[in-house]
Amino acid sequence: MNGNHIVCACNGTTAAQIEKAVKEGARTFEEVQEKLRVGVQCVKCKDLVKLLIDSYLE
Ligand code: FES
Repeated sequence: MNGNHIVCACNGTTAAQIEKAVKEGARTFEEVQEKLRVGVQCVKCKDLVKLLIDSYLE
């Protein structure tokens, strides 16, 4: 996925921002959510955010 891809439409959060949060130590959806305010509105992005976190942790 391109880093500029918008993962959370509600918040305008990109894949690159999620990658950065994971590299800075966020390990779970909740930790990334707290850092970036991602997935706090419609929550449709939750599964994709989780998948991305898993892939960036590998
Ligand atoms: S797309 Fe992420 S909260 Fe709506």
